[in-house]
Amino acid sequence: LKTTKNHLRHVDSMSTLPSRAGKITGLNAVILGEALASEEDDLVFPNDEFVRQALVPSPKKYLEMYKRSIEDPAGFWSDVASQFYWKRRWAESVVSENFDVRNGSVKIEWFKGGITNICYNCLDRNVESGNADKIAIYWEPNEPGSQDSLTYSQLLQRVCQLANYLKDKGVRKGDAIVIYLPMLMELPIAMLACARIGAVHSVVFAGFSADSLAQRIVDCKPKVVITCNAVKRGSKVIPLKDIVDASLIESAKNGVSVDVCLTYENESAMKRESTKWQVGRDVWWQDVVPKYPTTCEVEWVDAEDPLFLLYTSGSTGKPKGVLHTTGGYMVYTATTFKYAFDYKPSDIYWCTADCGWITGHSYVTYGPMLNGATVVIFEGAPNYPDPGRSWDIVDKFKVTIFYTAPTLVRSLMRDGDEYVTRYSRKSLRVLGSVGEPINPSAWRWFFNVVGDSRCPISDTWWQTETGGFMITPLPGAWPQKPGSATFPFFGVQPVIVDEKGAEIEGECSGYLCVKSSWPGAFRTLYGDHERYETTYFKPFPGYYFSGDGCSRDKDGYYWLTGRVDDVINVSGHRIGTAEVESALVSHPQCAEAAVVGFEHEVKGQGIYAFVTLVDGVPYSEELRKSLILTVRNQIGAFAAPDKIHWAPGLPKTRSGKIMRRILRKIASRQLDELGDTSTLADPSVVEQLIELADR
Ligand code: PRX
Repeated sequence: LKTTKNHLRHVDSMSTLPSRAGKITGLNAVILGEALASEEDDLVFPNDEFVRQALVPSPKKYLEMYKRSIEDPAGFWSDVASQFYWKRRWAESVVSENFDVRNGSVKIEWFKGGITNICYNCLDRNVESGNADKIAIYWEPNEPGSQDSLTYSQLLQRVCQLANYLKDKGVRKGDAIVIYLPMLMELPIAMLACARIGAVHSVVFAGFSADSLAQRIVDCKPKVVITCNAVKRGSKVIPLKDIVDASLIESAKNGVSVDVCLTYENESAMKRESTKWQVGRDVWWQDVVPKYPTTCEVEWVDAEDPLFLLYTSGSTGKPKGVLHTTGGYMVYTATTFKYAFDYKPSDIYWCTADCGWITGHSYVTYGPMLNGATVVIFEGAPNYPDPGRSWDIVDKFKVTIFYTAPTLVRSLMRDGDEYVTRYSRKSLRVLGSVGEPINPSAWRWFFNVVGDSRCPISDTWWQTETGGFMITPLPGAWPQKPGSATFPFFGVQPVIVDEKGAEIEGECSGYLCVKSSWPGAFRTLYGDHERYETTYFKPFPGYYFSGDGCSRDKDGYYWLTGRVDDVINVSGHRIGTAEVESALVSHPQCAEAAVVGFEHEVKGQGIYAFVTLVDGVPYSEELRKSLILTVRNQIGAFAAPDKIHWAPGLPKTRSGKIMRRILRKIASRQLDELGDTSTLADPSVVEQLIELADR
């Protein structure tokens, strides 16, 4: 209670936020930049027109709703949940949790006993409430010039056909299905079809290598793998089916064989005649799925039945299977989507994330479709055929809400304003950012150039584990500060703790934790509840530990400062340094590797690998390329190191622990800030590393 009160005090400070002074009226939005002493004082006000139509138009309204969500979570969330279809309403307690590992095993349950289906709520409910002919998906292919679309009723029919096919193949409630698809309409169709029949989908980003895919297949043992033969990204053809074939050979070696590989023929990338085929196992989607009936009974599931597994990176080499359940996730993604983007039924929404990541789960598929939104899905790359492609798509579909990652903003910013300004972008009204902290200069460019100083930016902080937004602006509710994710969403109680786990109040910096559960929280790590508790609940008992550093300013705004563990965010992709290290050391000529993040102009963070070679092996350009190739093959191209630093030795303590602090400083060339090196087993390795820095 004390924490809650403290937190509400922080939030209360908002009501004393600087208000618009007379001198700045008349402007749509005002940036007080230059004259300010610090970023904290840099306020960007939403324009009056936006505020007038906003769902949450003032700090007062937010506070009212927020206070209720904290003081009466059961009442607040059951009101929200009642807007969805439940075959049977949940039992008496809306939430039941043990969040404190000292009191026994961590357990989170929301709406337990409630019977529902998220696919039904995304599709049937919209079709039945008059949105049957509303566009659910606009699909933009890699090559400009054509498009495709599905209405809500067409989408429902496609989903039902696939659901019927899967049932026919023996897929039942609780069975896992791995989906390895690019951004075709078939990707959300496959997710929704699984949800319809109670199967647990595990989407693997189609940039992961065969080894990574195999690792996930071995872990969750799917009945069916759904993929396509190939995809074109830009001018490059990627033969996805070959990758799947290799992963299935690898999985079989590890005792997991998959009976069915349902393959969509992505004709524009590759014809079926050129696709390698294993008769008996491989089936063309187009040959079987359209033959099935366009209606399919829903499998009604408990709110706490699993919906999906999504593997994410942690501090060790083994990816974690983050498990989300149905009811709480449904309520949470729908509500966060609605408020953080100020969603209105007339909006056309485009999120550039891939469904292989959590953003594509919660904010391409479930959150928007639960709201009956029209979603744009783009198969290609944002710089193909040129860096204006995003704005071409915005104009083409009259996109109103555009949600992307800072890395894309920075790369488009580098390409020059003319690629943006040659398009109208008049339809845009809300912008969004996710995946890493957005630096104030990128924020400003996004706001001024892309949004013509008209569109608020929702800088949403959240994680695979949280299921949905945790700290986010509500556009129109309060002034923004470029680079700050601002305030917590309804029902979320962020706390900042020091090293000892003591909560710090007011203006401070520390580790970002969350007190008490929220409906979208993950419930466990698949098959490893102990790791769940150890990673997230034991570091600071009583709290969920996010792994992020954070500060809170005098006005109560939250500023995320990046990961404090061995995880790095590269172009918005989360990568464990241990995963890259284990790929590197699998190279026969690599004896040891240590990987750290370093600041990268476009990617946010880049991957910097210190590599010790096997005795007698000389360092060469060829070897460097071969090391990088090993990482690409084992994880995926997105995890390839930006820099390989040859390290005859690594800085280790006497007990053999690598001092990463020193490596990070060397990687960022802060050589006069190395700190105390006297505790190293061999301090001279540091000199050597510095000498070899730019070779
Ligand atoms: O470090 C934070 C960063 O991304 C991490 C979560 O990564 P992932 O689970 O892959 O989910 C990404 C999409 C939600 C966080 O621990 N992060 C995400 N959003 C932000 C952010 N850092 C700062 N600001 C954000 N808006």
